[in-house]
Amino acid sequence: MKIYFAPMEGITGYTFRNIYDENFPGVDCYYTPFIAATHTHSCKTREKKDVAPENNRVKHLVPQVLTNKSEDFLWSAGALADLGYSEVNLNLGCPSPTVVSKKKGAGFLGEPDMLDRFFEETFEGLRHFETAGRSAVRISVKTRIGMRDTEEAAALMGIFNRYPLAELIIHPRLQNELYRGVPHADVFLSMLGESRNPVCFNGDICTPGDMERLLEAVGKKKLQLPAVMIGRGFLRDPALLRRIQGGRAARRDELQRYHNRLLEAYSAALSPKDALFRMKELWAYLQDRFDGEDRRVKRLLKCRDSAAFRAAADELFAEGTLR
Ligand SMILES: Cc1cc2nc3c(=O)[nH]c(=O)nc-3n(C[C@H](O)[C@H](O)[C@H](O)COP(=O)(O)O)c2cc1C
Repeated sequence: MKIYFAPMEGITGYTFRNIYDENFPGVDCYYTPFIAATHTHSCKTREKKDVAPENNRVKHLVPQVLTNKSEDFLWSAGALADLGYSEVNLNLGCPSPTVVSKKKGAGFLGEPDMLDRFFEETFEGLRHFETAGRSAVRISVKTRIGMRDTEEAAALMGIFNRYPLAELIIHPRLQNELYRGVPHADVFLSMLGESRNPVCFNGDICTPGDMERLLEAVGKKKLQLPAVMIGRGFLRDPALLRRIQGGRAARRDELQRYHNRLLEAYSAALSPKDALFRMKELWAYLQDRFDGEDRRVKRLLKCRDSAAFRAAADELFAEGTLR
């Protein structure tokens, strides 16, 4: 089974991906946080840097695009093909109200006819890539199971099944559930059973036990699951993949090296304030490694300069109780 690192806007940019992969190798594929493909047919500098081959050292990277227009998707797919990418992922999962109100991300799921037309036009356009001498690009999808009602999932599967997707990554929550509550495992299993395309599960895999339970449920239905995508679980426990594979938990020196490499890289690339902001965002997850260290973590999160932050982090790594 393949394991993917989920895209997380504001967190899993190229600096993070490179350093994570150097310190905790083994993830089969990374996905970029979404690139907004709009009618202007231009990208933000940050987005260009994130997909630039010279900035990326992970073995396999798939760029993700957010749009609801085939013309804009095809423009971005062409630009990404020119950079050497052979797969582009369509974001049908972003639940944020500003995205959803534009009928993009999970908002696109509320417009099944428009979504069907999007795929029809996009696949038609991708066919022309090859005849026009451009490199072939496959499209994969990362989706939720609907906007408001789990009953929406069946009709969506009808649409997905009409097209040869490289992969269908399913986060089994509705748009209006955001990241709350428990993923709908039952809906996922029926989508897995119905899918003509290879499926990947995504959602709330944070321990080896979570993975075991997922695989047990899949096995009980006599189904096969080719891939699992993990996001917050890897941020909370960077050695999660190794533990899933039966290996040891992260040692304090490993966590410290990973952490300090990120701090150095962000400090070199960003303003001191922005670098600390990034690191504190990471600690929102990484604090999970420590047991009963709320006071020390709180102190760390209050630090306003890099030296004090580094000292507080070093103290936690040296003396904090690991889970
Ligand atoms: C801060 C944050 C940013 C995210 N950004 C993206 C994104 O750019 N594209 C995307 O498809 N999903 C995004 N997601 C969703 C994750 O990829 C993933 O689907 C979600 O966190 C559930 O998986 P997990 O429980 O393994 O974390 C984001 C989630 C979070 C919490």
